[in-house]
Amino acid sequence: MRRLETERLLLRGWLLDDLDDLFEYAQNMDVGVMQGWKPHESKEESLIALNSFIVNDESWAIVLRENNKVIGSIKTSPDENRGRYYAKYVSYVLSADYWGKGYMTEALNRILKYVFEELNIDLLSAFHYPHNTRSKRVLERCGFQYETTIKQGQKIYDGQVFDTVCYSILAEDYFKRVSPQTARITDILKKIVKERIEDGANEKAILTFPATALSFASISIFPG
Ligand SMILES: CC(C)(COP(=O)(O)OP(=O)(O)OC[C@H]1O[C@@H](n2cnc3c(N)ncnc32)[C@H](O)[C@@H]1OP(=O)(O)O)[C@@H](O)C(=O)NCCC(=O)NCCS
Repeated sequence: MRRLETERLLLRGWLLDDLDDLFEYAQNMDVGVMQGWKPHESKEESLIALNSFIVNDESWAIVLRENNKVIGSIKTSPDENRGRYYAKYVSYVLSADYWGKGYMTEALNRILKYVFEELNIDLLSAFHYPHNTRSKRVLERCGFQYETTIKQGQKIYDGQVFDTVCYSILAEDYFKRVSPQTARITDILKKIVKERIEDGANEKAILTFPATALSFASISIFPG
């Protein structure tokens, strides 16, 4: 699995050695409930969860680089609701001891860079319950936009049913945010390629399109 670094964090695959750190934060009543899962009551419960994280190659442990401690997790999964687009959704959780320090914003920004610049996905979505204002703020800080509220979207472990609020960010909006210049060039390239196709250019002609310009624009100009 791809290791991702930020100034203060390392995002890496989970290890059995992470059990104590996972159990430490997963016991907290305020943490898992916001994602719909029951706070862990024993290390055995954490071990079962840890096993599922280890075998999932889209589930990263968030490690604080200064002391090598696991302080949370972030995971991407296929978003099946997006027709032909290559879309994923992201979910995340942070140990309550580390809230209010910008760690999740830092981790999520790194995931955005990875999924849009390396995996070339079209859209990343995220969901939170209406009362989860902390998560809403993380998403807004990272450039996500409110999309819709799904009524009675999820029943959580104790039987309560909550609406789920959906946020998302499109690739084009991500690139506009991180590099307005690249986004402009990509728009221009798309327009030129479209004109060439309309003029009857064959595949070979399109492939001879200036490679240097294409590599400068880091998203695909041939979506889908
Ligand atoms: C959602 C959750 C990760 C948000 O944690 P958080 O600490 O509020 O988010 P961040 O790590 O991005 O920190 C942002 C806060 O740190 C502050 N901060 C301090 N230093 C900062 C920095 N260098 N950069 C950015 N923000 C910083 C910000 O002002 C912000 O506080 P504010 O929202 O009160 O203004 C956390 O509440 C959580 O794990 N909740 C339980 C699980 C959950 O809800 N998951 C989401 C559902 S999928």
